[in-house]
Formats: sequence, C-alpha cells, structure tokens
Amino acid sequence: MTRHFHSAIAGKTLRRRVGHRAPPVPERFVPPRLTQDKQVNMSAFHREKVLSVRHWTDSLFSFTATRSSGFRFLNGQFAMIGLEIEGRPLLRAYSMASANHEESLEFFSIKVADGPLTSRLQKIQEGDTILVGRKATGTLIADNLIPGERLLLLSTGTGLAPFASLIKDPDIYERYERIVLVHGCRQVSELAYGEQLVARLRDDDLFGELLADKLVYYPTVTREPFRNRGRITDLITSNRLFDDICQSPLDIATDRIMMCGSPAMLEELRAMFMSRDFAEGNHSEPGHFVIEKAFVER
Ligand code: A2P
Repeated sequence: MTRHFHSAIAGKTLRRRVGHRAPPVPERFVPPRLTQDKQVNMSAFHREKVLSVRHWTDSLFSFTATRSSGFRFLNGQFAMIGLEIEGRPLLRAYSMASANHEESLEFFSIKVADGPLTSRLQKIQEGDTILVGRKATGTLIADNLIPGERLLLLSTGTGLAPFASLIKDPDIYERYERIVLVHGCRQVSELAYGEQLVARLRDDDLFGELLADKLVYYPTVTREPFRNRGRITDLITSNRLFDDICQSPLDIATDRIMMCGSPAMLEELRAMFMSRDFAEGNHSEPGHFVIEKAFVER
C-alpha cells in the first residue's frame, strides 16, 4: 500500500466522485485475437518485470509486475497485456486485480493448454518481461452507475479480477452502504484467490474496518459440495443469495450491479435485470448495472 493512500485515508481527504465523470475512454474496446500487424508500434506498451507468480490450481494463476509511473487506471478497468513473441505483441484484455493506489500491478488469469497467450503466459517467472498497454479502459467503473445504496459485484472464474481492484478502493465504501461480492466457480479450489484476498483485507489495518461494516463476500460452487451452492443467476432469481446473507431482495431503488465473467451468465443476467426495468450503464449514461465483456477465455 502506498504512503499516498495512507495519508489520504488518515486525513479523510477522499471525496465522493458523484457527478465527477471519468475521462473519456472508448465505449467498446474490441481486443485483437492475435496482433498480426507487421508494423507493430511497440511504444504503445510498457515493458514490465514480473515480480511474483502464484499458481492456484491447474487452471488458475496470478502474478504481479512492476508498474510504470505513467500507467494510470481507474479501479475496475482493464488493459491489453501479453508477451512479445518473435518481435510482435501477443495480447489479451486483462482487468487489473490491483488497485490504482498500489505500487505494483496484479493480474488473475486462466491457463489454457492450447490458448495462444495463456499457454505461454502461465510459464512466466520472476524477472520475465510482460507487455502492458498504455491505455486502460472498461465499463466497470463507479461513475457508470447512478448512485445507490447496495452494490452487487457478480463474478465467475477470473471475472473476479476487476472486483479485486474495486474492493480495495476506499471510494467504493464511501459511495455504498453495503457491498456484496459474489464469486461463482465450478470447484472449491477455484475460490482460493478470492478467499485469500478477502481474508487479507479483513486483517488490514485500514480496510479491516471498512470490510467489517460494509462488505459481504459470498463464494458459491456449482460442481461439488460447499456451504453455498448454485449458479449466480439461480441464486438471485430464487432470492436464495439475499436470504443467505440476511439482506433485502433485489430492489431497483437501492441496488446497483457490476458483472464480469462467463459470457453465458452475463447474457442471462442482463436479460433478467432488463426484464425488471434495470438499465445498463455506460460512459455516456450511467445506469443500474454495468457489464464487462472483455474476458480472457483462451
Ligand atoms: P456450471 O458449473 O453450472 O456450468 P466456467 O468455468 O464454465 O466459466 O463457469 C464458471 C461458473 O459459472 C460455474 O460455476 C458455472 O456453473 C457458472 N456458469 C456457467 N454458465 C452460466 C450461466 N449461463 N449462468 C450462470 N452461471 C453460469
């Protein structure tokens, strides 16, 4: 955690950013599958050094890297990151799992044996170089939502990453009275990254109190026994999520939602929320919910 952040909290200089719009960024960022342009402009990237790598399961790993001083982002955003292969960048959209007040960058990734990037990226080690696009973007930012009282952060798999960043943002705790972080996975082992993140924050001198007052963490598993079972879609439509956490059911007057993860889940949730008159927000008009589609599947 940076000194700047500590002093901001201590002096309570953080302000609600309601009404303060984020700098303009492209509405839809379409990640290139493989950059084949022969005249690649490598100056579009920062070269960062890998600081640590942690393998969580056969299919999940996370890593940290240095952060160039010029690399700015809003918590919840993503950037194109990847490796230089034969002189060309091989890139995917990755949400920053670190918060913008942290000195290093962190990413949470799947490993796919035949995935063009992740088959290589999973082999990175401390000291290796990765490419990080200079421009961060994305829809999962607080200003894209109209003010509300409860924030639901709905994720599956590595879709947790932008919320790992957001729950380390003190501003989010100023904007909302309650924050519910839901993480759905097939297996219990896939929850480990999120469980440790939340446990670490609960022990943190500064965040411990904020989390105790405001954050509910609800991990759920679909393919083996666990204390919470079921898909996020079913947990919401059945009200089971709200019953389990002893909170009121979904209410358009108070609830704002961010979602990231399985494309099928995102489509189902969007349809469900729209059928209840929730409006999708974006950079030009805030709404009741926002969706991040830039999601690495290979
Ligand atoms: P399930 O095991 O029932 O398919 P994946 O690893 O395929 O990305 O899935 C991550 C989690 O998202 C799993 O728990 C999976 O449940 C769930 N999931 C997949 N599709 C949907 C969907 N359409 N709606 C809700 N949850 C989904």
